[in-house]
Amino acid sequence: MSRLRLGVMVSGRGSNLQAIIDQIESGRLDAEIAVVVSNRANVAALERAKRHGVPTAVFERAEFASRHERDMAMTRCLREARLDLVVMAGYDQLVADELLNEFAGRIINIHPSLLPAFAGGLHAQADAVEYGVKISGCTVHFVTVGPADGGPIILQKAVPVYDDDTGDTLSARILEEEHRLLPEAIRLFGQGRIVVNGRKTTIKPAN
Ligand code: GRF
Repeated sequence: MSRLRLGVMVSGRGSNLQAIIDQIESGRLDAEIAVVVSNRANVAALERAKRHGVPTAVFERAEFASRHERDMAMTRCLREARLDLVVMAGYDQLVADELLNEFAGRIINIHPSLLPAFAGGLHAQADAVEYGVKISGCTVHFVTVGPADGGPIILQKAVPVYDDDTGDTLSARILEEEHRLLPEAIRLFGQGRIVVNGRKTTIKPAN
């Protein structure tokens, strides 16, 4: 595949977006970000995009009659950007089935737990500490219609949980791995190496 055209969906800090930008700018990821879409205005992720000359679009719920209308507008924006892959990088809401169907097999998400543990919530790291697990981590998966964080898993990375961890300390440890795992999944997608077979994926060896 030639240079991948990415759309990145964000909601906040944008450190995963930054990891993608950094890998593109350093030549380690053969991709360009055609658009960054956010469901929130004035977030750091948008500043990061602008600083690197990446086009942005904001779709705040208040500007639309319903959340569904908002998601439809977002879908049109992503469609018009002629993307190869949509990357949810810290996007904090569920999206309409129409958006997921439009990009079926071409939309991925990073989640800060070892799925299927701690799926669905926005506090997976604190939940893991609270539950008392000894190992957590992060997962990149395809986003599919159905239960949140339930699509086929592409890559996972385990991270230890220490006795004195808080949600914040575990989040920081997991985040370091997220910043490697998400660009790696994008790279594998771009190289056409992710094969999906039902719930399972396999990674083809590099040529
Ligand atoms: C990350 O931990 C991601 O896994 C989760 O939300 C956080 C977003 O961080 N979904 P950032 O906005 O990429 O810095």
